[in-house]
Amino acid sequence: MLVFEDDIKGDLIWMMTNILRFSRSLDGKGGDINPLILLYGPPGTGKTSLCQGLAQKISIRLNSTYKETQLIQIKTAALMSKYYSESAKQVDRIFMKISRMCQEDPEKFICVLIDEVESIAGSRHAVMQRSESQDSLRATNALLTGLDRTRGYPNVIFLCTSNMVESLDSAFVDRCGLKRSIEPPSLASQYEILRSRTQKLIVRGVIQSLEVLPSYEDAYVEAGVSAEHAGSKLLALVQLIRSGNAHAQCGTEISARSLTQLPEQAILRYLREEVCDLDLALNFFERFVLSEQGQGKSYGNKDADPHDNNDEKFEGIELRGRKRNLKIILEEDSTIAELEELLAELRRKRQREGEV
Ligand SMILES: Nc1ncnc2c1ncn2[C@@H]1O[C@H](COP(=O)(O)OP(=O)(O)OP(=O)(O)O)[C@@H](O)[C@H]1O
Ligand SMILES: [Mg+2]
Repeated sequence: MLVFEDDIKGDLIWMMTNILRFSRSLDGKGGDINPLILLYGPPGTGKTSLCQGLAQKISIRLNSTYKETQLIQIKTAALMSKYYSESAKQVDRIFMKISRMCQEDPEKFICVLIDEVESIAGSRHAVMQRSESQDSLRATNALLTGLDRTRGYPNVIFLCTSNMVESLDSAFVDRCGLKRSIEPPSLASQYEILRSRTQKLIVRGVIQSLEVLPSYEDAYVEAGVSAEHAGSKLLALVQLIRSGNAHAQCGTEISARSLTQLPEQAILRYLREEVCDLDLALNFFERFVLSEQGQGKSYGNKDADPHDNNDEKFEGIELRGRKRNLKIILEEDSTIAELEELLAELRRKRQREGEV
């Protein structure tokens, strides 16, 4: 299940329907707006999954107009490597085939998914400046020609994804009837992704629990009552992830892909017993996040010290759990400098907590 802050899927379905409404009303002449949709954004935000879902939804919506829908998925990266130096010809062939299908069976709706479109829609200007191989330049030309060739058909729509929108050819971006950025999940969506993934593991019996994890809003209420409730712990985990992101020198948001994998990865890494109850699982999740942040691997904390572990010593202060639970150890012979450092760390900690 994809989780987004607002009803992106519903919105996009309506916009696609409206684009098709325009092309149908023009009776094969082609309108000003291309049935070409571009979803762009950072990796792992759900662009490909969303496109697949949209293709399925649009086919259901159109089932009274078209007798069937065919999804054609173009694997651009494979196309570029497999048909190296021939990729333009291959793109051309694909578009010829799509045109033929549109013409031969007007009662069939064709939904074309071009994933990672930057592989065949890279900026021609950049290629020329770097005097690179002309292959990708020709592929971009073939794509643009192909899109123009299929423009007049009312029974086709193109869904494209990219996580390198800035490297796309401007003529391609210009042709997109709809461009929409897909952003990393908000705090509420992060909670919801973790909640639903954990709940799924409960349903599958991987985690033994009779609990139903609360919604984001309810978890907030629970957290006000006790930090020991499962919802409070999950919420604290999301905040821990966020604090790792916010304080990384070069912060990046956590991707939805990483979040969906977190519960299973944590359990596979740490479980050493037959039974895993919810409390144990939540402990593993926290341990996993702390460990990842400590190694600076992901969760936005790219620049963390690779030698940083969870129970570190830092100038007279023992920091447990990624500087979150500050445990103060002052030696008798602590110097003023150590004391000042300690106070500075405390101030930074408060500031961090205030931001969360
Ligand atoms: N918003 C989301 N809600 C829930 N799960 C998500 C979401 N976004 C991504 N995922 C999960 O992450 C996985 C990868 O998503 P997907 O491949 O669609 O991302 P993408 O944006 O296309 O990434 P990339 O740019 O790397 O191709 C999906 O299988 C899905 O489980
Ligand atoms: Mg993708």
